[in-house]
Amino acid sequence: MNQPVMGGVANVNAPSYVQQQKLINWVAEIASLTKPARIYWCDGSQEEYDHLCAEMVARGTMKKLNSAKRPNSFLACSDPTDVARVEDRTFICSNDEKDAGPTNNWTEPAQMRTTLNGLFDGCMQGRTMYVVPFSMGPLGSPIAHIGVELSDSAYVAVNMRVMTRMGKAVYDVLGTEGEFVPCVHSVGAPLKPGAADVAWPCNATKYIVHFPETREIWSYGSGYGGNALLGKKCFALRIASSMGRKQGWLAEHMLILGVESPAGKKHYVAAAFPSACGKTNFAMLIPPAGFEGWKVTTIGDDIAWIKPGADGRLYAINPEAGYFGVAPGTNQKTNFNCMASLASDTIFTNVALTDDGDVWWEGLSKEAPAHLIDWQGKDWTPEIAKETGRKAAHPNARFTVAATQNPVLDPAWDDPAGVPISAFIFGGRRSTTVPLVTEARNWVDGVYMAATMGSETTAAAAGQMGVVRRDPFAMLPFVGYNMSDYFQHWLQMGEQITASGATVPKIFCVNWFRTDENGKFVWPGFGDNMRVLKWMLDRIDNKADGVEHFFGTTPRFADLTWDGMDFTPAQFERITSIDAAAWEAEMKLHTELFDKLHFHLPKELTDVKARLEAQLSV
Ligand code: OXD
Ligand code: MN
Repeated sequence: MNQPVMGGVANVNAPSYVQQQKLINWVAEIASLTKPARIYWCDGSQEEYDHLCAEMVARGTMKKLNSAKRPNSFLACSDPTDVARVEDRTFICSNDEKDAGPTNNWTEPAQMRTTLNGLFDGCMQGRTMYVVPFSMGPLGSPIAHIGVELSDSAYVAVNMRVMTRMGKAVYDVLGTEGEFVPCVHSVGAPLKPGAADVAWPCNATKYIVHFPETREIWSYGSGYGGNALLGKKCFALRIASSMGRKQGWLAEHMLILGVESPAGKKHYVAAAFPSACGKTNFAMLIPPAGFEGWKVTTIGDDIAWIKPGADGRLYAINPEAGYFGVAPGTNQKTNFNCMASLASDTIFTNVALTDDGDVWWEGLSKEAPAHLIDWQGKDWTPEIAKETGRKAAHPNARFTVAATQNPVLDPAWDDPAGVPISAFIFGGRRSTTVPLVTEARNWVDGVYMAATMGSETTAAAAGQMGVVRRDPFAMLPFVGYNMSDYFQHWLQMGEQITASGATVPKIFCVNWFRTDENGKFVWPGFGDNMRVLKWMLDRIDNKADGVEHFFGTTPRFADLTWDGMDFTPAQFERITSIDAAAWEAEMKLHTELFDKLHFHLPKELTDVKARLEAQLSV
């Protein structure tokens, strides 16, 4: 099924259904730079997917799981050095450094192009270059955008088929003149003639590069997740956020869920949490005992594209078509719907293999199996784990699964018009300081809360874990332009909605992660987050009360619904109390953030800060 490269611009053997000469020329240009042994044009069919997976099984990149236990599913284990997004190797190469801003790595574009030309020269030798056409958002929808990824990784091609609308039909939308975002990806491991390949080729040198003005993405050296599946973080967040700024819309690191009350009233909310802080769990939440008749449905679990509709309200779509979620911690109790989604047709990466050919990860079951092959291919037993602390699955182990496998997928998930957003929720992982839930007084205060959000770091990105860092809007690694301009864009969106006569969505700030003196979470989270969600919806519908504190409104114990749960007022106090000393220290961190972002920082936000500081000091 692979077609050889004939050499020269005219001979990349584009199938007849590819009508765009500009695209064919670009494929030829990249092929002549990267020099693959073959070019393969993906059509997105099931047959192609099966074939590519079978080839990867034969090469040792993937293992086929036991068909009786996990039909049509595979396990891939990466190189131990290639396990997470590499934020320190991620670049926004705008023409002007100021447009990348202080939160992004920047290199002058011409210099970066010279570096990339050197790295990509011959980097696909001995390998196949896959041409992967994809649509972010429903095919042909006016809010969708098209990309084409050229990658020398079959693992990328099959994951892109699950995560995006990938395949032949994209070329019909593209036609002869349509626009696409060109995405070039290489694992950076050319194969010498006759040399043996490794299961997970990659390179110690890594570059994840974005040119926002020309809307190009170049990724080198990694085959993992957001570094390599370029539709996700690179396109749908970094490039899209910069497109959204120019065109008046938002590309956000947000899940989107629908909540329907027993009376049939439905709201959609979008929630931003940093990576590996439970977006997938929240998006698939099952209402707890006491909430009979309530329904939560998923539009998306990671990314939202949000645009003003004709009525002035904000409408959101999920540009993705699948979930690339964190496996450890996921189980029948924490996320029943996710477990149901993973019953078949799933690609697992860096989880452990059981002796009967199924998968396991920390937190999947209380008792670990007596023996496993861990994500690095080594024998693993609970005893070995006790002695060495070695995990069976990597903490950032993932599953890739189609959204259509989610039993609570919202009927509107594929609606090109999107769903109207009633509220935005922002949440960090904070063991102290930040209360369970706060409603911002207004849009500007809400933008302030989101802009100054802090969170303890997780395994989703390479680097130290558990350190509090400011993660504005959970977008620190994903805003494709200057962070202060991004705040301004949010403020402007609020003004625009108000000017149109529509009501701005309410903004809430949540924290599920406060701990007690033993470091244990006080709030049970997961399904019980519904109690907080219901309070928010009641606030939107003017049906719930709360108390004002210095940065917003918080429910009192009596304002939440406790049916079916034992939680004492004392426990509630622990997760909702405002410690003035902790907040004084917190405000100093806001000052540090604002000092760093002083260029173009909106005055509205420094005004909010001054007001909060004044309130704290009385
Ligand atoms: C993700 C991430 O993979 O945020 O979604 O790292
Ligand atoms: Mn994410």
